[in-house]
Formats: sequence, C-alpha cells, structure tokens
Amino acid sequence: MGVEHRTGGSATAVAHPNIALIKYWGKRDEQLLLPRTDSLSMTLDIFPTTTRVRLVPEAEHDEVSLGGAPLEGEARRRVVAFLDLVRERAGSDRRAVVETENTVPTGAGLASSASGFAALAMAAAAAYGLDQDATALSRLARRGSGSASRSIFGDFAIWHAGTDEDGDLGSYAEPVPVDVGELDPALVIAVVNAGPKAVSSREAMRRTVDTSPLYEPWAVSSKDDLADMREALRRADLEAVGEIAERNALGMHATMLAARPAVRYLSAPTLTVLDSVLQLRRDGVPAYATMDAGPNVKVLCRRADAERVAGVVRGAVPGGAVHIAGPGPGARLLDEGGR
Ligand code: ADP
Ligand code: DP6
Ligand code: CO
Repeated sequence: MGVEHRTGGSATAVAHPNIALIKYWGKRDEQLLLPRTDSLSMTLDIFPTTTRVRLVPEAEHDEVSLGGAPLEGEARRRVVAFLDLVRERAGSDRRAVVETENTVPTGAGLASSASGFAALAMAAAAAYGLDQDATALSRLARRGSGSASRSIFGDFAIWHAGTDEDGDLGSYAEPVPVDVGELDPALVIAVVNAGPKAVSSREAMRRTVDTSPLYEPWAVSSKDDLADMREALRRADLEAVGEIAERNALGMHATMLAARPAVRYLSAPTLTVLDSVLQLRRDGVPAYATMDAGPNVKVLCRRADAERVAGVVRGAVPGGAVHIAGPGPGARLLDEGGR
C-alpha cells in the first residue's frame, strides 16, 4: 500500500561527505540527534557514497550491505532504525534491500556517516514515496547521523541546533551563501590512517559531554567562532576562515583530551602534518588544518596553492595518501538503472 509505487519502490541516491569548519561536537538529545551547538561545513567534490534502497514486499527482514558485504551489529542496527523511522512516516511495513558503496574510508574521521546517511535518507525517502523538500530531508538525514544533515546541501551549509521548544523541527541544515569563486577554497586531505577508529564519533562525543571539564567552555566559544566564521565567509577571507576553523577544531580536540577517560584521535603522523602546515604558513602559504574524529588531516588552502600544499603534506607523511577536494554538490537521486 501507500505511495511507494511512484518510484516503483526503488531509488538510488549519491551524497558526498562534508567537513565541518565549525564543528558539531555534543548532543543535547541522543534520541533525536539534536546538537548542543550550530555547525558549519563544506561539502566535498570527492568520495561519493552511492546507496540503493529497494522495497521487497515479501521479505521479513531488511538486508543491508556496504561495499558488497552484509552489514552487521551496530552499523546494521543504525540503518534498520533509520528505515523504521522512514516506514513509520510512510505508513509502510515493507522491508528493504539496502546496497551502499562508500568511496571514502569508513569510520576513519572522513565523514562516511555524513555521506552515508545523506544518501540513505534521500534514497529511502524516495523508495518509500515520502515527499520531502530539502529541509525535511536534512532533518531526516540528521536522525541517521548528525553531520549527514549538512551533506544534503552542496558547497557551504550551516546546521542549526534549533531550540528545545521546536525540537526535531528546528534542527536542520541550510546553504550558506558564499562567493566560492572569490574564496577559491580547497581541502587537501592527508589520509594518514584509513582504518576504522576505535571509538565511534557517537561514543566519543557522549563521553566528552558527560565528563570533560573543557566541554562547556568550548561550546560557548564555538558560538563566537561561528559568528566570526560567517563574517569571514561573507568577506571571502580565506585566511580568516582558516584561522577560525583551525582554532575551533583544536578546541574540540582539547575537550576530548580532557574527557575521562581521554579520547585521543590525533596520532604522531597527525602532528607531523600539523607541523608541515605551520611551516607552510611560515613560508607565506595560507594553509590551516582541521581534524575530525580520526587521525586524518584536512588542510584548508586556496585552490591555486593546493598542489604545493599537497606536495608538502605528502612529504610529511610518505606512507599516506593525499587528496585534493573542492566544494562539491548536494545529495541527489540518480535515474533508476544506476546513473
Ligand atoms: P566517520 O568519521 O566515518 O563519519 P562515524 O563513527 O561517525 O565515522 O560513523 C561510522 C559509521 O557510520 C559506520 O560504522 C556505519 O555505522 C555508518 N556508515 C558509514 N557509511 C555508511 C553507509 N554508506 N551507509 C550506512 N551507514 C554508514
Ligand atoms: C567531529 O555526525 O559522525 O566530524 O551524529 O553521532 O552520527 P553522530 O556523529 P557524527 O559526528 C561528526 C563529528 C565531527 C564534527 C562534524 O562533522 O561537525
Ligand atoms: Co561521522
């Protein structure tokens, strides 16, 4: 029943990861995935996730695979819980086959949960026949992974924490107008370790909020960082954008280091890359680092400097892979058939 027939009960979506310049770190509601603070990000033009959702009327269970292998445990549970939410809204009890492929390393602090749940939200909503505008899709993607709310949009996006009165409805992302040509941003991504993190983002931010004496001060100062960031983006001032992003990220890692027990994602190669970023600045190249819940470093610089920055970063971590990303597109549906 329902309106699934509009899409034939099948849909495929593509979404890209996004990297926060003002971080999301800490929830005020674990059920609805409502954040403590606003955050602001750039969606990448590399590392797409492609997700296909196909309804199977006769099936008793959802079937979920990532990169061709069945998903199990917590990762499967998150996808099934997400599908349950979509089914509840669509008034459907049909199970689904979900096939997803990441091109970004999964669980490495390179935002696979953002591209993953943005693509799943878009594909599942279409397969179950939910008619959602971009704002509603952003809210929905948020329920899978907070950062996914921002990957619905391309280029720069802000995710509003919202108010307690508005609850679910008040917390969604929207585009931030930026003169991308004038800012000319690139993120040089140093993958020093592509392996999955030992502690998930979810667990790490919960522990930080619960135990870190530095959490509240960071959350307070993050508000100022956001205001400064919006102003810097308005001016297309790359140096200011980079400085603010770097201080916000280092502050976030300070909150984790002060958690009990400490959460430390930054490794020796991370620090080597940070040193190379400092050296670039001393040499007059505007380059600024940001790190998420993992050891990998994203270096913000001008597109025109990206090759030079990538060369220096590559020299700093001879074993690691280095990618150059620009601002990328929002999530979109593919024509069925796969392209
Ligand atoms: P990351 O830094 O990669 O975002 P997280 O700890 O936030 O790391 O999330 C990793 C988890 O996100 C995975 O263990 C899995 O549960 C989920 N995930 C990643 N990619 C996908 C995907 N394509 N589809 C569904 N879930 C995904
Ligand atoms: C450090 O969105 O992965 O990358 O909402 O629990 O799924 P959940 O966490 P997630 O957290 C991302 C944290 C971050 C900063 C950011 O992307 O804003
Ligand atoms: Co994540």
